[in-house]
Amino acid sequence: MRPRAAAAVISVLLLAVPWHAARTASAAAGGEDEGMVRVNGTRFVVGEGDRTLYLSGFNAYWLMEMASDPSQRGKVVSAFRQASAHGMNLARTWAFSDGGDRPLQSSPGVYHEDMFQGLDFVIAEARRHGIYLLLCLTNNFDDFGGRRQYVQWAREDVAAGVGHNLTSADDFFNSTLVKSYYKNHVKTVLTRVNTVTGVAYRDDPAIFGWELMNEPRCNAEPTGALVQSWVEEMSPYLKTIDGNHLVTPGLEGFYGDGAHESKELNPWGIYYGTNYIATHRAPGIDFATIHLYPDVWLWGTTADQRARFFRNWTASHVRDTDAHLGVPLLVTEYGKFLWVDQEGGGENATARRDRFLGTVLDAIYESASRGGPLVGGAFWQLLLDGDGMDALKDGYQIVLPKDERAASIISEHSQKMAELSDQDAAAPARGRRRWSEPRKIGGFGAWRSSTHPYVQRFLVCFGSLFRSFSSLLGAL
Ligand SMILES: *[C@@H]1O[C@H](CO)[C@@H](O)[C@H](O)[C@H]1NC(C)=O
Ligand SMILES: *[C@@H]1O[C@H](CO)[C@@H](O)[C@H](O)[C@H]1NC(C)=O
Ligand SMILES: *[C@@H]1O[C@H](CO)[C@@H](O)[C@H](O)[C@H]1NC(C)=O
Ligand SMILES: *[C@@H]1O[C@H](CO)[C@@H](O)[C@H](O)[C@H]1NC(C)=O
Ligand SMILES: *[C@@H]1O[C@H](CO)[C@@H](O)[C@H](O)[C@H]1NC(C)=O
Repeated sequence: MRPRAAAAVISVLLLAVPWHAARTASAAAGGEDEGMVRVNGTRFVVGEGDRTLYLSGFNAYWLMEMASDPSQRGKVVSAFRQASAHGMNLARTWAFSDGGDRPLQSSPGVYHEDMFQGLDFVIAEARRHGIYLLLCLTNNFDDFGGRRQYVQWAREDVAAGVGHNLTSADDFFNSTLVKSYYKNHVKTVLTRVNTVTGVAYRDDPAIFGWELMNEPRCNAEPTGALVQSWVEEMSPYLKTIDGNHLVTPGLEGFYGDGAHESKELNPWGIYYGTNYIATHRAPGIDFATIHLYPDVWLWGTTADQRARFFRNWTASHVRDTDAHLGVPLLVTEYGKFLWVDQEGGGENATARRDRFLGTVLDAIYESASRGGPLVGGAFWQLLLDGDGMDALKDGYQIVLPKDERAASIISEHSQKMAELSDQDAAAPARGRRRWSEPRKIGGFGAWRSSTHPYVQRFLVCFGSLFRSFSSLLGAL
């Protein structure tokens, strides 16, 4: 499973693409002219005229690691070039790799310059291709380190001495020492001066915003209070370093027990350690996110139940975001697993995935075109064709040149979203229109299963597990 050498292909790509010209290029999105993306009510706006920004995006967690090897940089260029050719304007990726074989941060406060230069390159290329970057600062899960690695560092920190008797990865959210490591990571990344562009990350308009963590969850405090207090500490801290970029916690959208939360709407109706509403109201939080993996979250249910869950999940978050948050909402990850077909029937898994893609994008467009808070998303995950990429396949990959149907669905959606932006510019009132009542969806009394909560929690982790698996393979 080791990625194969791709020197020949890469050198051809590098010759064909003037990536060294990053500084002089100016793109439609992420360009220097328009400044930082801002939030006004439930809209993202940019530029002096407050142009409304709708986001058509993708996930590619592998960009920094790939670019840390100069011989592999052509792949990053290809990813951005393909995305841009399909009208996309947002990439979500990792600005962390904690410990392990290819660390950005090998131990607290110790950084690897080759990885940082990889991230520099990614940011410069994103700007050149007119693509905003949503950069995530650590992981809830063990891939690329994450909170388990942070807690391990604290356990091994002899200098810090006694008092750090940490027993679980959940201590990440509560230990003063671990929180100091995390804050140092935030500060180091945000104050980094890009070696390609000369611009400090915190001043770079190509960066859409910061995500505090990929998919925070917590078993120690399942109703959401601990993650919330962590967000309430970290978000204002981040803003003291970078008051200009947008910030979001990185939530999947699970409801806790705060006011207006409805845990019955969660997969299997149980807690995952986060509050959707209260945590998105934390000081310094600018926009909300949800993720969407109906088939793995509700493994073992019928297609019909999953479809109903999808409608409920989307509609309830649109409604709650509008009613209780008044900020924009992005579906920062969604995917349909290709390798295990739970549905059978005549349609193949790819065709079903493409239909799912269309359904999600239609829901986004429906909200955006009505002035609702759901104004964009990013599918999980974009891969390239050919050399060295097979090891990154995780059953969710979309390879634009090969997956023609998916590619055309994405292009068409990007186009429609760009048209909305133009319409807003022509008639600004549309952008201020209120979200009308969401479709009423109800009467699913029979859908809930009697599966034990722990089994359910495990099943919900499936999505992350499968995705962990791929990154593991990628790291081998
Ligand atoms: C938000 O948008 C409205 C309507 O376009 C405008 O009147 C208002 O000044 C904007 N607010 C900010 C803080 O930019
Ligand atoms: C660490 O915590 C565990 C569980 O709370 C406890 O049993 C153990 O005695 C503690 N160890 C030290 C050295 O404090
Ligand atoms: C958080 O830390 C405090 C102080 O060390 C402790 O009293 C509390 O039990 C911890 N909370 C959780 C949920 O671990
Ligand atoms: C849909 O939402 C309603 C409440 O709004 C809830 O009673 C029902 O169980 C939900 N169904 C699913 C499939 O999530
Ligand atoms: C899946 O079905 C679609 C539409 O029916 C078809 O175009 C495609 O070739 C099929 N793919 C595979 C791998 O069988």
